[in-house]
Amino acid sequence: MRIRLVLFSTLFVATAAPAQLPMADHAAKRQAVLDAMTHDGIIFVEGTVAPPREDQTFIQSQNFQALTGILQPGSALVMWRKGAVTGQRIIVPAKPAYAWEGDQIGPVEATAITGMPSLPSASLRALLDTLDATHSKVYLLAQDAGWPGLSTQLKSVVGDSGVIGGGRIGRGAATIVAIGGARGAGATAAAPPENELAAITRAMSQARAKKTDAEIALIRRAAQISTLGHIAAMRYAYPGVSEYELRGQVEGAFLTAGGERLGYPSIVGAGANSTYLHYSADTSVSKPGDVVVIDAATDYKGYSADVTRTFPVNGKFSPEQKIIYSAVLAAQTAAAKLVKPGARMTELNAAADSALWRGLVKAGLVDSMGATYVPTGGGGGRGGAAGVGAGTQSQLRLFYFHGLSHGIGLNVHDPNYTENGALVVNSVFTIEPGLYVRPSTLDMVADVPANAAFRERLKKMMPKYSGIGTRIEDDFLVTPTGVDCLSCASPRTIAEVEAITGKGAPRVKPKH
Ligand code: GLY
Ligand code: MN
Ligand code: MN
Repeated sequence: MRIRLVLFSTLFVATAAPAQLPMADHAAKRQAVLDAMTHDGIIFVEGTVAPPREDQTFIQSQNFQALTGILQPGSALVMWRKGAVTGQRIIVPAKPAYAWEGDQIGPVEATAITGMPSLPSASLRALLDTLDATHSKVYLLAQDAGWPGLSTQLKSVVGDSGVIGGGRIGRGAATIVAIGGARGAGATAAAPPENELAAITRAMSQARAKKTDAEIALIRRAAQISTLGHIAAMRYAYPGVSEYELRGQVEGAFLTAGGERLGYPSIVGAGANSTYLHYSADTSVSKPGDVVVIDAATDYKGYSADVTRTFPVNGKFSPEQKIIYSAVLAAQTAAAKLVKPGARMTELNAAADSALWRGLVKAGLVDSMGATYVPTGGGGGRGGAAGVGAGTQSQLRLFYFHGLSHGIGLNVHDPNYTENGALVVNSVFTIEPGLYVRPSTLDMVADVPANAAFRERLKKMMPKYSGIGTRIEDDFLVTPTGVDCLSCASPRTIAEVEAITGKGAPRVKPKH
């Protein structure tokens, strides 16, 4: 195969919307992904196309954005290697004279933004022919949205045969599918060819995980704006406030401060709703004495923060709420203290767990530090602790049943960057311990002799603690000397939270 280069290039420079990161940042990420393909082949990175329905939202494919900085719908990146020769093309729709949605970039601007030769999408087929795609290994990094993009054109050239499936990058990121093998006339439907999908996947994941200074600046801005939303909600709270009013406060403050869209659907749970991790109906009205958990953050130029606060609608934590809140705050503080280059997440988890245990012992909700129980329906559920006998689980996991941390970035659950399992400078991630006393807690503890004492304990304590959910979540950055909390400007201590809650409550309360 002979690769004919540059036939389609559009290389002259034009004025264009600046990329969100320096051109060199995207170029380095692209190079890392291309370098992972050590043999001949083509990597096709699909951007998102405009949504087919009005109730769907365009969000650029996160892999595509990381590699190009291009936000134009209907774009793609093609990279290839043939022997010692490599190449890259940015594909965007031709610029129309009038775009319904606002100004649009075309190939000229795409080159100015990325530094890559560009092509209009109508020339994609010709490029694939030039690259002899039908006889090449073609790796597809598919877009995140559920509707088809330019990969339909790719598949119309190379066919569906040879699709061997793929993994995922990080949590909630793009699916990678490999299409490979010799096809065309006379080709047999071969077994999946040897391919470099795993290496490309890993490189893409690392390119997303390893944040540049410019990316950190965008995440920092997202976190700062997010703190304003939480402050607005706390200030507005009053006994009987609805979840949707609070959501309005949070999200309105994000937009007012320049947040472009939500990083993820807001979770605003009052009373028992505070104990549901993924509650996002936000339709209930609080009762006096409720705590509210708000997990909400803005996206800023594609990068999401992830912030959770818990506060009492009355403006005063009850003694029981204080015990739970103090334990969660102590867990977050203990974990955050350990953050520095070289620290390991296992250490952070151990520190957080031990603070949570101490709080639960103080509350009387567990038998003792490290105690276990037999869950309803047998063991094997989430949260079984090492060293716990078969069929038993840690009593801590009855109240704390999610992870402590995850990376943030283009996706609110971005891959986190570590080296040899240790944090490095510019790792950016959440620390988000929580305790949730679900009204159904007792139902989860099997009515068996081994649980008798624990069940008696819960029967006594549940009336005091039922419906108290608490999570405190902030975004942390590893610096050369330790840690920088990007979202801690939002009140966290009991004194700070009580001092602000309700201070901006409406004089005339809405009728619910
Ligand atoms: N907001 C999603 C999370 O905390 O992981
Ligand atoms: Mn989180
Ligand atoms: Mn969150």
